[in-house]
Amino acid sequence: MDITVSPVRNIQGRLQVPGDKSISHRAALIGALARGDTLIDNFLRAEDCLHTLSCLRALGVAIEDDGSRVIVHGTGPHWRAPASPLDAGNSGTTMRLLAGILAGQSFEAELTGDASLRSRPMDRIVEPLSQMGARIAALGDGRFPPLRITGGPLRGISYTLPVASAQVKSAVLLAGLFARGETTVVEPNPTRDHTERMLAALGAPVRRDDGRVSIGAAALRGREIRVPGDMSSAAFLLAAAAARPGSELTVEDVGLNPTRTGVLDVLRAFGAVVDVRLSGEHNGEPVGAVTIRGHPLRGVRIGGRLIPRVIDELPVLCVLATIAEGETVISDAAELRVKESDRIAVIARGLRALRGEVKEHADGLTVYGSPLHGGRVASTGDHRIAMAFAVAGLLAQGPVTVGEAECIAVSFPEFVDVLRSVTVA
Ligand code: S3P
Repeated sequence: MDITVSPVRNIQGRLQVPGDKSISHRAALIGALARGDTLIDNFLRAEDCLHTLSCLRALGVAIEDDGSRVIVHGTGPHWRAPASPLDAGNSGTTMRLLAGILAGQSFEAELTGDASLRSRPMDRIVEPLSQMGARIAALGDGRFPPLRITGGPLRGISYTLPVASAQVKSAVLLAGLFARGETTVVEPNPTRDHTERMLAALGAPVRRDDGRVSIGAAALRGREIRVPGDMSSAAFLLAAAAARPGSELTVEDVGLNPTRTGVLDVLRAFGAVVDVRLSGEHNGEPVGAVTIRGHPLRGVRIGGRLIPRVIDELPVLCVLATIAEGETVISDAAELRVKESDRIAVIARGLRALRGEVKEHADGLTVYGSPLHGGRVASTGDHRIAMAFAVAGLLAQGPVTVGEAECIAVSFPEFVDVLRSVTVA
């Protein structure tokens, strides 16, 4: 499916975005390990999280959706052997987090996914889970999915993450629930901490101290969870509003966990006016409203410790960089090459297709401020690339058509309607 987006004058409105993808996965997975029901309000009903639910059902966890809430009837820590391979679809979070839990079960299971997921590195979880005593094989050349996991008794380890990855950290911590002794993950560079917060909300004693997280065996209890709006989805709308002087957009009830708000820091550095009002917490996750006003923008540098806090927002920030004066330099972001696509290569190709000026680096990009023209861009089936180039259509000098745009349903099925509702032609 193609979508075509035409230039607009500005962006106006007040809205909420769908539930946070990372937190929805964790509420379902960790709720399933708890005893009693976990009632999840504002669960993200998008393809990635629906894959998590279908894997859990195949593992014997009963889940209902009454239209307003998703209800996970937690079974406690021990699940049932699945009858066939588990399909994580496009979702790296489903595969990596579930692998951590399957490592502690007493059966063998296979985890697979779509062509994109089958090309993403899994050695990063095979290594620590094997150290804990799991038998886990990456059937694609020893590095890639499918994963065959034979669960069994685990031992706690102390593991220093070689790459900044919340999915790897989470896989090890979840396996730690099943291990003898304590499991510690050391993070050289902080990544999103939703697993730690969700585990604590459901009763696990999680210890955190200066870049180290530790956990031991714990009895979890189900509870009510409200999922905040997804900052990574809001980012597309906030970036569009930042780009157009005269715009004013408010996103309410959005997650403000500091490990996820790097995009707000970058939008401010570009020159947008960003106002944040914290209104409270849902289950240990800060929430509130963000208002953004558009302004003429100048190029920025994005690198170092900021990268994990903004990793999923970099595609749309590269698009925004085309209307900023001067150059925008992104570095220390080699992880972008192993996302749903090689995002460094795909962003560079997309910008060039719209006659943008860009240089590709091993670990990032330099994007020059020069107006985009209308044209056609291949999303390569990557949801965040598709939405980033839809935003390019709002800012370019002519309409932009994005191919394979059905992939947007992976994280933000309502995106096109929401975008339409806030644009002023
Ligand atoms: C996620 C972690 C990040 C992020 C992904 C979601 C998570 O991936 O890019 O979209 O929910 O833990 P990495 O752990 O690979 O950095």
